[in-house]
Parts: sequence; structure tokens; C-alpha cells
Amino acid sequence: MRRQHSESTTPAAFTIGSVDTSTIVILDFGSQYTQLIARRIREFNVFSVVLPCTAPLDQIRALAPLGLILSGGPSSVYDADAPAADPALLTMGVPLLGICYGLQFIVHHLGGRVEPAPAREYGHAQVDIVAETPLFRGLPQTLDVWMSHGDQAKTLPDGFVLTAQTANALAGIANQARRIWAVQFHPEVAHTRQGVELLRNFVLDICGAKPDWTPEHFIHSTVDRVRAQVGSGHAICGLSGGVDSSVAAVLVARAIGDRLTCIFVNNGVLRKNEFAKVQKTMREQLGLRVVAVDASERFLAGLAGVADPEQKRKAIGNEFIAVFDDEAKKIFESAEHDGDAIAWLVQGTLYPDVIESSSVKGPSQTIKSHHNVGGLPANMKLKLIEPLRDLFKDEVRRIGRDLGMPEEILERQPFPGPGLAVRILGEVTAERVALLQEADDIVVSEIKAAGLYRKLWQSFAVLLPVKSVGVMGDQRTYAYTCCVRAVESEDGMTADWAPLPYEVLRAISGRIVSEVRGINRVVYDITSKPPGTIEWE
Ligand code: XMP
Repeated sequence: MRRQHSESTTPAAFTIGSVDTSTIVILDFGSQYTQLIARRIREFNVFSVVLPCTAPLDQIRALAPLGLILSGGPSSVYDADAPAADPALLTMGVPLLGICYGLQFIVHHLGGRVEPAPAREYGHAQVDIVAETPLFRGLPQTLDVWMSHGDQAKTLPDGFVLTAQTANALAGIANQARRIWAVQFHPEVAHTRQGVELLRNFVLDICGAKPDWTPEHFIHSTVDRVRAQVGSGHAICGLSGGVDSSVAAVLVARAIGDRLTCIFVNNGVLRKNEFAKVQKTMREQLGLRVVAVDASERFLAGLAGVADPEQKRKAIGNEFIAVFDDEAKKIFESAEHDGDAIAWLVQGTLYPDVIESSSVKGPSQTIKSHHNVGGLPANMKLKLIEPLRDLFKDEVRRIGRDLGMPEEILERQPFPGPGLAVRILGEVTAERVALLQEADDIVVSEIKAAGLYRKLWQSFAVLLPVKSVGVMGDQRTYAYTCCVRAVESEDGMTADWAPLPYEVLRAISGRIVSEVRGINRVVYDITSKPPGTIEWE
């Protein structure tokens, strides 16, 4: 009998994994740069995966890594709660590269001595290479590096030699017989000028990894795996119109065709014309099977009288799950004639979320409870397909390009799940949504006309609950204030307000006050994050 989607057992995470491609495993000791190591290696078209340093040896072995990298970290190896890996990995025979704390971990666990440095080394430094090693092959005798450490290795374990040093301290060691190399500086950060070459020497020459992890390879292997996994089952996917859910849906559709149904919900707080536009693009340009549900009235009813940001998020999140659940039931019921069809849920989870949730530091403090479209309704117990869970955002874009998806989707600025609701301060009403939609549309179109859209992380309008007096023609006005927000950012974690050209600000403000009845004043937000956040709520 067909299993109901609500009856299936524990959700099974579907990881793309790495078994058919060269893999480098990075063990994370809590450094802020760990993700950068993974990115640098992937830039060589070699697959790399970050595991918490506490990962059991069996889990590491199962990935058959060609090399291991031990990351930096903020602790001291002597701290009572210092993060530690299984020391047995030091004798696995797989080439090993220790970075910063990674070097100190190796020294400490193989019988050397680490102690506090007389002076913290932080920032730029020059390092002299003092011994020949394949790690430094082709590099100049003096390296410009980035240091960030308070401890230093004082005595080396047996069999290790010094390979590099600064004027004050040790900067590199190796035991080539045991295939262990380590550096005190950070080759993964851009400030280390020869860092990329050093990592390339390790990954391609020492570990012998093949640079075959290309978008094409990823697409083929992912499509094959999804097809095998889903079998004759059916899948659903919550579309937001953004990059991640769209690329995930297109990949899964390649594998199972129209046994994937996408659900796109109008929650009443989308941008101007977005409900129609996204449907059209998804159906006509991406060939996806889309069920579009206009639930705006339901959502707006749930938001009536709610002014608190977290309450808004909750109201939208709960309503979304209810709507999504209803639609999912209908889809799986109509698929019933297919017999033993297992129900799957496609999610556009990305690698940073995966690393974050398994990081040695634990998930970071919740500042805002983010509700993402397509978030797993906990009671649905669908099996999960997360075809992008090994990828960073820019890699997702590369895959999207290889899949022939339009730039308009791939370059879209992020848009929060609770949509315009967190950009309308105070109560969300249909009238206020309409005002903000108009103002926001002007901001985005002027930013695009000025050729700035792709350079900005986000650019949008916020409707403030502040009315002020103005004059239009001979008429006194008393209307709302709109705030324009534009920020530059790498990842949304930190952001700088963007110095938009005055002409662009003038065009935006002129158009808003003359075209949007109900707004008579425009201000520009010049707050960076931190201390501000990007959204106003
Ligand atoms: P903040 O405002 O926290 O935003 O600086 C950082 C990034 O996250 C987006 N954001 C959200 N995304 N659900 C989402 O899916 C949310 O509730 C949410 N709140 C903020 C925001 O647009 C920015 O890109």
C-alpha cells in the first residue's frame, strides 16, 4: 500500500556525498575561516567537506578522503574544553595538513610542546622557507602570510622538521615520512598571498586529488542519485522564486520529471506582480510543474492586529505550513494510483546551513527566527531531498547557469520568507502592502536602471509607521514615510550601507513621492550591520 506522507518514518536526509569523486576532509576546530578552506579547495574543482573535529573516525573513513586538513580554532590545546579530534587520525596514513590550531594539535598529540607565545602574532607577517618540501614547491623563499594565534609550538615531536619561520617564531613543520605537514599561518585567507598555491600543492600534488568536481559532474551525479533514491515516488517542493529553491527544483525535475510538483504560495506579502511573474518563469522558462495557491487573504487575516516582528514571523510561518500541508495532501492523494509511491520533500538547504548546524560552536544565537519558504513542516514526516546541501551559494549559481537557468533568477537578491511583512513596521494591512509594493518596485527598478542591482546584496523599501506633513501643489499632505535600504554584503552576516549615487537617490525619492499616493517623504538608511540588521524587523 502507498504510504501516506504523514505516516512515513523518520525523515531521511539525502546527502549527495562524495564517494565518486576525490574528496578532501576538513576537520573544523572552530575557526572563522574553516568554510574558506573548503571554498578554496572547491575552486580547484576538488570536492571538500567540513566535519566537526569530533567526527568519529569511521565517518571520516567512509568518505575515503585523499587528504585531511585540520583547521584553525580559537582555543588553546591546553584548555580543559579544547576541541579535540580522535588522535588516531594522525596515524591513518592519509596526507594531513594542519593549519594554526591544527598545527598545535598535531604537535601536542605527537609528543611535542605548545605554549603561550610571548606576543600574540596577529595580522600580516613574513615567513622564510627553511626546508624543501612539496608543500612549498614553486613558492618564493619568503611568503607574505596572515597570522592569528596566541600559542606557539616550542618543541617538535620526533621525526618533525622545521620548514618555515618568522623572525620570532616557528611557521611551518613537516614529517614527510608520516605525510604530515602543518603551517602556523592561514593559507586559506586572501591576505596570505601564496596561500592558494600552497593549498593547491597539498590537494593536487601531495594528495593526488583529481580536479573533476565540475558543475557538469555534479549535475550528472545528482540527477542519477535523485532518480535512484526517489524511484517511482513523488516529490513536492516549496518554491519561493529565489535561487536555491529554483535550482533545487530544476535538478530534481531533471531526475523525476513531472513526478515533482512545486508549490508556490501567495502569502499576501510578495512584491509587486511577483505571484504572476514567478509562476510564468517557473512554468514557461524552467518547465516546472507548479501548483500556485493564492492564500493572501488567509495570511492577511492572520496578520490582522499583529505589530510584533516575531509574532508576524510566527503567524506567517504557521499559516505557510498549513497551506503547504493541504496542498501536499492533495498532490500525494492524486498520485495514489501510482501504487507504493513514497513522498519526498525537496529543500534548497545550502552547505553553510549544514556546517552551521553541526559546527563545534553549535548553531549561532538566534537573533531573528528565520522562516524560510519550504521550511520542513515538522509533522509531515516527508523524506528529504536536499540536492544542494553540499554547495555554497556561488556554486549553486554556477550549477544554475550550467542548467541553462535565466540570470534573472540566478542573480536575484535575497528576499525574506516573511516578505514585505517584516518591511512594514506596525500592522500589516492590504492597503499598506499595496503602498510598499509600489515604493519597492520603484526602488528596485531604479537600482536596476543604474546598473547597481547585482553589486548590491539587497536593495528595497521599508514602510514606516510615521506620518508627516508635506505639500504637493497647493495641497497640504499628511502621509507615510518610506525608507530606502541598500546594502553591500558577502553573506548577509555583516553588511555595509551602500553609498548610492545622489542621482539614483534623487530619482527614487522623486518617483516615490510623485507616483505613490500615501507616501510623501523618503529617507535613506545609513546603518551598517552590525549594529543594525539588514531588515528592519
Ligand atoms: P538580518 O535582517 O537578520 O537579515 O540582517 C540577514 C539576511 O536574512 C534575511 N532575512 C530572512 N530570511 N526569513 C528569511 O528567509 C526571515 O525571517 C528573514 N529575516 C531576515 C534578510 O533579508 C537578509 O538577507
